[in-house]
Amino acid sequence: MKKEKILVTCALPYVNGLPHLGHLAGCLLPSDVYARFNRLVGNEVLYIGGTDEHGTPSELGAKKEGIDVLEYTTKYHNLHKDIYKKFNLSFDYFGRTSAQENTELSQQIARELAKNGYIEEREVEQVFSIDDNMFLPDRYITGTCPYCGAINARGDQCENCTKVLDPKDLIEPRSSVSGSTNLEVRKTKHLYLKLSKLSDKVRDWVNTRKWNKLTLGIANKWLDEGLDDRCITRDLKWGIPVPTDVFPDMKDKVFYVWFDAPIGYISITKELLGDGYKNWWLESCGAGDEKYVEFMGKDNVPFHSIMFPATLIGANPDYKKVDTLKGLSYLNFNGGKFSKSAGRGIFADSAIAEFPADYWRYWLIKNAPETDDTDFTFERFAEEINKDLNDVLGNFVLRVLKFYNSKIGSTLQHNPANSEKEIAVKAELKTRIESYTNYLSQMEFRKAMAELRAIWVLGNTYIDEMAPWTVFKTDAEKSGEILAFAMNLMRIFLVLAKPVIPETAEKILTALHTSGDWIFDVEVEMNSITKGHEFEVPSSVFTKITPEKVMELNEKYNAKK
Ligand code: MF3
Ligand code: ZN
Repeated sequence: MKKEKILVTCALPYVNGLPHLGHLAGCLLPSDVYARFNRLVGNEVLYIGGTDEHGTPSELGAKKEGIDVLEYTTKYHNLHKDIYKKFNLSFDYFGRTSAQENTELSQQIARELAKNGYIEEREVEQVFSIDDNMFLPDRYITGTCPYCGAINARGDQCENCTKVLDPKDLIEPRSSVSGSTNLEVRKTKHLYLKLSKLSDKVRDWVNTRKWNKLTLGIANKWLDEGLDDRCITRDLKWGIPVPTDVFPDMKDKVFYVWFDAPIGYISITKELLGDGYKNWWLESCGAGDEKYVEFMGKDNVPFHSIMFPATLIGANPDYKKVDTLKGLSYLNFNGGKFSKSAGRGIFADSAIAEFPADYWRYWLIKNAPETDDTDFTFERFAEEINKDLNDVLGNFVLRVLKFYNSKIGSTLQHNPANSEKEIAVKAELKTRIESYTNYLSQMEFRKAMAELRAIWVLGNTYIDEMAPWTVFKTDAEKSGEILAFAMNLMRIFLVLAKPVIPETAEKILTALHTSGDWIFDVEVEMNSITKGHEFEVPSSVFTKITPEKVMELNEKYNAKK
């Protein structure tokens, strides 16, 4: 098989606020399964993640906790990192956009854009807070919403009625920094990325993409509506300073968080590889023949299909741009949104304290919100974990190994059976493995998981039909051969499941004393556990979730009305 070079990135979650199941389902886990799968089939993979740390929410969050912003983002960066480790996300590196590499690279890209004529300095009118002695970014102004009368509307948007606002519209505006109403409108300068001038180039590039309908639809809609030049600077302290060598009027300004965040993919690669980052990011240095796949929630698609590519195209056409964009929908909780403030939904840190990572990984990938939003309920979760993992997979493993061990021992005395029945099972297995492989390559997670489950069911059906426990009474030899065949099936089941439930796969493959190499040839692999092979019987594989537990979880994580 030809080895592919694949760069995988997962949208960098905002550092403030902790991830909930929706973040895991809609971006993090799918990207991990894809990265693991590709490594397993022998592709060269670089899987990059990290936290998006700049912007007003971090500044405000730090203020609320009464700590320095860097201390604040470091604290949350580490919390994110720990949680993802517990979910076994296999990032090659998990970095941060506040790293020095990102400052340098973002400034460099801004210089390149300026040199190519894609940045323009414009004078604008902005609210200045006299008592705070600073220009206030839109989000730093609070007042009464002119539409719905909510008293705590923010200058950029009213959270109550969701109307997008201009801070000048607010009634009785005040500074969110000090509460001061001593405000006035002053002139100041900002940098604009000239998207209008880049538009044709971006369109030409988009036309070369083989994206799915949804992504192409979003990208073309933006292009057709015409790209407006975008302000890429803000009046904040916490952010990447605009380089004053090229922009002498930009003292005290930083880049807008969406300008530097996606550049984070590149700079985080640089954090890991130093100058080696060029092999993954410059077409002339080897990135030309790689496949670059990005995973993200659907709300992030415009930034990744238009804005970020436009930035790179304008800076230097040699930058590698995305080949495949996997946008996912949302996961809801009991029919509503996850909400920390309303106490609704389960956050990743609590989730991992309740059940092992593999339970979550299995359910969230099986139910990945690929086409539509998906609803999580503890009832559905328990039902599918009990059925698929316990009854189908776990039961098969334990039944086979326990029976063989108790009747014959833990050293195999038989070679796998190979009668008409087994030949038929192998044929079906081969077809199903091919489609499973195809689905995973195409990032069709739901379909892949349906196939994986069908493969596991194959084992149960086989063993039910062949009934080695009954056969044993009259023909111990034949029973042993059936069980040996089943053990080979078992190994294949777990190898295939490795990208999704890595811990369980590792555990059972270790008990089987066998390798976890990918299955390329079913006939060969179905003869990998033979006479003389030793194995152990794991004490348990999965544990069922009881109805009492479901009740307890609903009590704990559902918003109390
Ligand atoms: N922080 C954004 C979010 O959580 C995603 C940023 S993706 C990046 O929605 F590429 F820009 F970093
Ligand atoms: Zn409002």
